[in-house]
Amino acid sequence: MPCALFTATSSPMNYPLFHLDGLGNPILIAIIAVVHVLINHPLAVGIVPLITLLEWRGWKTGEKTWDELARKVLFVVFIITTTFGALTGVGIWFSTSLVNPDAIGSLIRVFFWGWFTEWIIFVVEVCLIMAYYLTWKQWTMRRELFAIPLGPFGVWRVRPKVLHMLLGLVLSIFSWLTMAIIVGILGFMMDSGHWLDEPDFVNGFLNPLYLPQLLFRTPFALMGAGLVVLALVPFFVKRDDAVRSRAVRLVSLWVLYWLAWLVGGGLWYWWEIPGSMVGNLPVALTTQDFTDWHDEVLWTLGAAVGAIALVGACGALRPRFMTTLPGTVALVIPILMGMMLLGTFERVREFIRKPYVIKDYMYANGLRLEDYPLYAERGLLASATYADHTGIDGPPVEVGEKVFMIACSRCHTVNGSFSVRHRLERMYGTDKPWQAATIDAYIKGMHNVRAFMPPFPGRDDERMKLAEWLATLGPPKEIGNRQSAFANSSEGGIQ
Ligand code: HEC
Repeated sequence: MPCALFTATSSPMNYPLFHLDGLGNPILIAIIAVVHVLINHPLAVGIVPLITLLEWRGWKTGEKTWDELARKVLFVVFIITTTFGALTGVGIWFSTSLVNPDAIGSLIRVFFWGWFTEWIIFVVEVCLIMAYYLTWKQWTMRRELFAIPLGPFGVWRVRPKVLHMLLGLVLSIFSWLTMAIIVGILGFMMDSGHWLDEPDFVNGFLNPLYLPQLLFRTPFALMGAGLVVLALVPFFVKRDDAVRSRAVRLVSLWVLYWLAWLVGGGLWYWWEIPGSMVGNLPVALTTQDFTDWHDEVLWTLGAAVGAIALVGACGALRPRFMTTLPGTVALVIPILMGMMLLGTFERVREFIRKPYVIKDYMYANGLRLEDYPLYAERGLLASATYADHTGIDGPPVEVGEKVFMIACSRCHTVNGSFSVRHRLERMYGTDKPWQAATIDAYIKGMHNVRAFMPPFPGRDDERMKLAEWLATLGPPKEIGNRQSAFANSSEGGIQ
């Protein structure tokens, strides 16, 4: 399948702009995506193998409590994943295609068959989870064997409970496969690897970050599942039931085991992240206002991992204590820590990729690197199919706002989150009017000063008009001095 995405002669910007001032476009995507990952990783991917393990334990020991615990946890999983999980998954599609249609368009062109396969697997997964949950009670009680015809191999006689556990195992594999496909696409956005030289599906999918990220997310999902079950055990197993402390012990060991893998996978992943992105980390973790807090934030994240390990160790070594009131309360801490870690990780991953949405191919403003010369020559507004093309010769301030929408609004709002006004106030103060010429000079080199921002796209006159509009966001000029700032300053000075 050819991966040339646009022809140079067509208009590269084919979609109207969607802009949320206030909340901001990145925050819209972030909220939906983080909620989705918080549900998906532990509950859709990681927990089914653990539920199957609990079920197997019940079958092995003949203790009904294990089986009941497993079934009740599955009920919670079933409800949450098929409602919030599925809705936020679709929500990611809606929000990203609204905010950055060209980026999603590019990804679909490269990964069409990946997503196609993932969708089929997802549908099978939903059918399997329904079958796994709905057959639970019947197949646990049923005594007669199932006779499954195997064609030339005769008939397979199997106990219903064994078949049910096999169903859990198959479901585990299918759930993991959906993640294993999506991670290929997420890795590609951070590091497109050889794809730029040879743009085909395999080169894009097997990007340098694919395996490390998979080896990070898989144990995260499995460990996260353990954290969820630890918090649920007190609700589903009575305090005087001897199985309660044994369940806490088994799940704690599970958590510790996957935590070790997680640390290993995390280090590998960290090692592979391109150096340019690592430089973005302080701002990614805290935003520019709080970069001084970088170390504190890192310590907090480390402490969160420590807290999970500590509660896991208590659960493994002193499971009886975990059935007392303080112990029960302690069981809730790891899940809160896990949510914070996963949320932070997703936010940082989204951020450090900047200024790109697809590394070396497309900036986060949705504009391709190779179209930049075209914008510099033809103009940004003239290249935007849905912009008002007649406005290009209109009053500078109106043109400037349109340019802002195309060049800056994927990341900034005017007054809301990542507000450009607030950032300019930080730079130029609020006590005197801002000079358009100064702002213009800043925009010209903004990608050098702040490596997370793409260079300004478009013609010089568009950049100046943007600067003029930005200057109007600052303190008002004195009466009688309201002419264009460019008229007052020498044009040559800002070239
Ligand atoms: C890829 C996303 C992205 C795009 C596109 C983008 N910016 Fe930024 N910009 C950022 C981020 C992130 C920050 C730092 C935010 C913070 O304060 O934590 C920033 C900071 C700024 C600052 C403050 C810089 C400083 O040194 O403190 C200004 C001014 C600014 N942007 C203006 C613009 C203008 C004007 C445009 C459009 C021409 C633009 N940005 C496009 C992401 C972007």
